[in-house]
Amino acid sequence: MNKPVKPSTFEPTPNNLEPFWMGFTPNRAFKQRPRMIARAKDMHYYDLKGRAILDGSAGLWCSNAGHCRDPIVNAIQQSAAELDFAPTFQYGHPKVFELASRITTMAPDDLNYAFFCNSGSEAADTALKIALAYHRARGEGTRTRLIGRERGYHGVNFGGISVGGMVANRKWFGAMLAGVDHLPHTYNRKEQAFTRGEPTWGGHLAEELERLVTLHDASTIAAVIVEPMAGSTGVLPPPKGYLKKLREICTKHGILLIFDEVITGFGRLGHAYAAERFGVTPDLLTFAKGVTSGTVPMGGVLARQGIYDAFMNGPEHVIELFHGYTYTGHPMAAAAGVATMDVYRDEKLFENAKALEETWADAAFTLQGNPLVEDIRTMGLVAAIDIKPVDGKPGLRAYKAMENAFHDIGLLIRITGDTIALSPPLMITKNQIEEIFMEKMPKVLASVSSL
Ligand SMILES: Cc1ncc(COP(=O)(O)O)c(C=O)c1O
Repeated sequence: MNKPVKPSTFEPTPNNLEPFWMGFTPNRAFKQRPRMIARAKDMHYYDLKGRAILDGSAGLWCSNAGHCRDPIVNAIQQSAAELDFAPTFQYGHPKVFELASRITTMAPDDLNYAFFCNSGSEAADTALKIALAYHRARGEGTRTRLIGRERGYHGVNFGGISVGGMVANRKWFGAMLAGVDHLPHTYNRKEQAFTRGEPTWGGHLAEELERLVTLHDASTIAAVIVEPMAGSTGVLPPPKGYLKKLREICTKHGILLIFDEVITGFGRLGHAYAAERFGVTPDLLTFAKGVTSGTVPMGGVLARQGIYDAFMNGPEHVIELFHGYTYTGHPMAAAAGVATMDVYRDEKLFENAKALEETWADAAFTLQGNPLVEDIRTMGLVAAIDIKPVDGKPGLRAYKAMENAFHDIGLLIRITGDTIALSPPLMITKNQIEEIFMEKMPKVLASVSSL
């Protein structure tokens, strides 16, 4: 179904761009020089004129299977025609049960249950709520404290920003949840610069959790939430031994460990989940993005057997968990999810990500030595390139790099501060990896060198 790429008839003008208040975007700068995407196929986006743009970031870290893949498109179309909506409060429909079974079967240990929502932010808040309710259900209602980590990102809802460690999110909205504390982040450029995979320095930082337990007492702490590899705050792979140590300390003190796998889930690090890659099983695991390869909004939480069991008490006709969304397990999202899992399995996309990890890192590290590049970090099919900020104008060089990459070089990148993050669809080839790092990225960097 490779359709010819036709130019769009939409002409951006100040009038028709103005009404959309864009999120996480400098609206005025965007509307002066809009980066408009008209369509997508496989590894490419196409702008309004039909010009191809290589997708270096899987959209927003989500289009892991590539774009507009036939099996997923067909499943969504069929679902829209067959079952537009069905409630999953008190009723059910086949696809959502099928998807729950598929994604829990892929998960390690006894992560046997899937609770669905519609985004990564909802997934984070759902996991925090399940953690609080779990302790209460077991008669340990004093465990209400939640522990996040500096430079953590858990979406934009009030729970997520409270445990998150993204300064702007916290400063602007207040960290509304009381009784939250934070572990230190694990990045230290002096000790870790230009590391591939897990840095050897920093495992000891997990011990900070013991300090927080001593400070607050374990009986007040419900859960610790971390991204196994922090993504949105600049790609921070976990130091060697760090996650295992966190697991040990949580287990020792009866604290739940939550992995936010919204980015790392579904193949990004060469495994179904980062939990598998690192050999560490959390009690709750959040997912979104790659579950439908970004095609239909969906998120969710995987829970271990013991968590689910703790709720299955009381009279059988009474609701066990007072939580859910109208669109929990939406039929179209569930159908997209099942078809996405088929594509991952049939095309061995997680295996492809794993097989290409070294090629990807080798290619990324060819940028080391470029005078603008201050650090490079890689893991799975993810790379972060920290570039030198313009004096007194943090973020400007990366913003201009993104503009030029899109308009002049034909590459979609993601930026955060002065970090360029790359995380392509998992169907990428060796040639396309070389195209990103050896052909396009040097041009992108050259285009901002004189700022
Ligand atoms: C780790 C993590 N958690 C949560 C979220 C929020 O997901 P969403 O934007 O779907 O709400 C993100 C988004 O990038 C994320 O990276």
